[in-house]
Order: sequence, then structure tokens, then C-alpha cells
Amino acid sequence: MNNFNFYSPTLFVFGKERENEAGKLVKRFGGTKVLIHFGGGSVIKSGLLDRVKQSLTAEDISFVELGGVMPNPRSGLVYTGIEICKREKIDFVLAVGGGSVIDSSKAIALGALYDGDFWDFYQGKAMTKALPVATILTISAAGSEGSGNSVITHENGMLKRGCGGDALRPVFSVLNPELTCTLPAYQTACGATDMIAHVMERYFTNTQEVEITDRLCEGILLTIIKEAPKALVNPADYDARANLMWAGMVAHNDVCGVGREQDWSTHGLEHELSAFYDVAHGAGLAVMFPAWMKYVMNHDVMRFAQMAVRVWGCEMDFQQPEKTALQGIYKLEQFLISIGMPVRFSGLGAKAEDIPTLVKTLFSSGAATLGNFVKLNADDARKIYELAV
Ligand code: NZQ
Ligand code: ZN
Repeated sequence: MNNFNFYSPTLFVFGKERENEAGKLVKRFGGTKVLIHFGGGSVIKSGLLDRVKQSLTAEDISFVELGGVMPNPRSGLVYTGIEICKREKIDFVLAVGGGSVIDSSKAIALGALYDGDFWDFYQGKAMTKALPVATILTISAAGSEGSGNSVITHENGMLKRGCGGDALRPVFSVLNPELTCTLPAYQTACGATDMIAHVMERYFTNTQEVEITDRLCEGILLTIIKEAPKALVNPADYDARANLMWAGMVAHNDVCGVGREQDWSTHGLEHELSAFYDVAHGAGLAVMFPAWMKYVMNHDVMRFAQMAVRVWGCEMDFQQPEKTALQGIYKLEQFLISIGMPVRFSGLGAKAEDIPTLVKTLFSSGAATLGNFVKLNADDARKIYELAV
């Protein structure tokens, strides 16, 4: 196991009706004037936004509202939010929504305390400070409620890029599983797929002797595989929603990834798809992960076979472990199909003729390779996209 620091300072406030504590929580963390940031309208329709506003008003906390975050959040609204924060002397950003709203809030929080262009941080500039950000989560998926990351698409060139730092870890996150019961089936499935991907980006590692994090990863995967179909059959199944909600958090706050080298090339490959075609991140991952797995499997076939046996219930073939490994990938694909995910380019509306453009943008930062488990060059990326066709 490698040396590591683990810093996860977020207060998680989990359970039914906990969003009604928003005002008290904001006060506890020093907020006096809040930017409430939200998405395309689900929180208005569900009445959540009104409840949050009432909770802030009850604590005499003033606020300004900024809605309209789109999935795959864009830079334009971030600039607007930064401008509002500076003009209105906002000292706290409250994200009410999913990963897109949270990531947009984090970008605004960074830019509000910076004189330059917030995009500098998404091009590698180290961050030192941001306004405090808190979240009221409405979808189990991206894990941004517990992560120090933010992913934004810049409208100039449609570049989807991430940045990370401790300043972006939410001070608190309210996780009420009931809030996720209104999710359409497709978004529930996209969310489950993203969580699975967050675990697998960590699972496929070259670091040896990492039994504890291997087992945590496997436990999270087994949970998602069991609970996601239940939530799809009965969207109001509180316990399934609750298990998924905590799974999404532990899949990405890095408790299952510390002490081991992580990969993240599939996320890189996917971000080009969601930027280019504006598809859901989870759906893009459902297409790219099996393709990546088939391409790199022989780098450490026993690790793939281990997942096949421990997670997908495959029988170990000691003579031909690659058969076991392939069976595991097949079972993953079948699971993704069973929850309504696409597993090929056509299911995303993606086209083979766009692959050269996708590869070019993917490597536009000048990096020679992508990922760690196997370091992929541009030619590898092209072949993996082709496998996904
Ligand atoms: O905008 P509204 O109207 O709220 O609708 C949203 C949106 O259309 C809807 N939704 C959310 N909660 C709902 C609901 N509809 C009904 N009932 C509810 N309770 O769902 C749609 C998708 O929302 P979005 O926030 O985009 O989903 P998600 O949480 O999957 O976030 C995806 C974004 O997060 C990024 C992705 O790249 C993508 O841009 N990621 C962020 C990460 C991070 N910051 O650590 C890591 C991830 O790997 C990921 O890259
Ligand atoms: Zn993801």
C-alpha cells in the first residue's frame, strides 16, 4: 500500500427531511449571505427549493437565487454566478441539486475569491481558497457532495475539464434519500453507472497488497448491483435509495481509493463524449468502461478475473483466467443493459467518424498519455473508441 493523506472534512447530514436544517447548518458554518444555486427546475417542482428558502429565512439568512444549471454544466452560468457573488458580497454557496449544480457551485465559489479567470483552475492552476460550499443532494451519482472536484465545460471549444483541491470539499452535505425518489429511471441508472465507474477507476491499479480498499470497492459494487434494480422497480423504495445515496458518496470521497494508484482514463475518454454530444455522463461511462476493460485486460488479467469472481459471481478458470476476466466484463455489460444503459456508440448517438476529433480534443492539453493502470496514448484512445462503436 502507498503512503497517503485522507482528508474528508464534510459534515454529512443523512436522512428524512434533513433539508429543513439547512438554515441552521449554514449558520453553523458562518454563512450570512447565501447564493442558492440550482438546476433546470426539478427542485422547484418538488417544492425542495421553497423548503430550503424557508429554512434560511427562519434563521434570518439572506440569499440570492441562481437557477438554470444544465447537465454537463457550462462556463457561462459560472461567470454569471461569480459576478453575482462579487456584487452582492455573497459569503456562502449552497448547491441544491445534482453533480452538475454542485460542480457549478464549486466553480463559482473558486472564482468569487479570484481576480483572474476561474477557468485557470481547470487548466492546472493550483487553488488556495474558495467560498464555503454546501450541498443538498437530489441524485445519487457524481459523488461531488463528498469530493474536492468540479467538472465544467467551457463553451469556448466545448472543453470539459476538471479541477480538484481541498478548498472545494463541501462544508456540509444534506443527503435525504427521499429527495431522489422523483428521479426518472434513466437518471437513476446513469447515477448507478457513474458510481460503479468511480469504484472501478480505483479498483484497476498496479499497487499491490491493497486488500482493504479492494474489499471496500467490491462491497460498494455489490451494493449498487443489488440496490439499483430495486430503485428502478420501485422508485419510492426508501431503503434502496438510502443505500444508493451512501454508496455514491463512499464511491468517490476516496475512502476506497487511498493508498493505491488510480486510473481515471475512462473518465477522460467519457468526458469527450458528454462534451461533444451532451449525453449523460453515466451513459457515456456505460459505453466506454467495457471497451476500456477489453482493451487493457491483459495488462493484469488476474485483477480482472478477481473482480469477475468476487463481484459478478463467475467461476475462476485457473487454466485460462482471461476467460473468467472476459466473463466478468460480459456480466457488467449485461447488468448495464438490464438497467437501461447504452453500451455502444449508437446508444449515445455518437458516430465513428467523430473519433479523430474526440481523440484530438482529449489530448489537446499536450499530455502524451492518459491514465495509470495502462498509460494510453492517442492511438490507444482511438482503438478504445473504436471498440465502443
Ligand atoms: O436540472 P434539474 O431540473 O434539477 O434536473 C436534473 C438533470 O436534468 C435531474 N435531477 C436531479 N435530481 C433530480 C432530478 N430530476 C428529478 N428528481 C430529482 N431528484 O437529473 C439530471 C441530471 O442531473 P446532473 O446534476 O447532471 O447529474 P449528476 O449528478 O450525474 O452530475 C453529472 C455531472 O457531474 C460530473 C459529470 O461529468 C457531469 O457533468 N462529475 C462530477 C464529479 C465530481 N465533481 O467529483 C465526478 C464525476 O465523475 C463526474 O464527472
Ligand atoms: Zn463520474
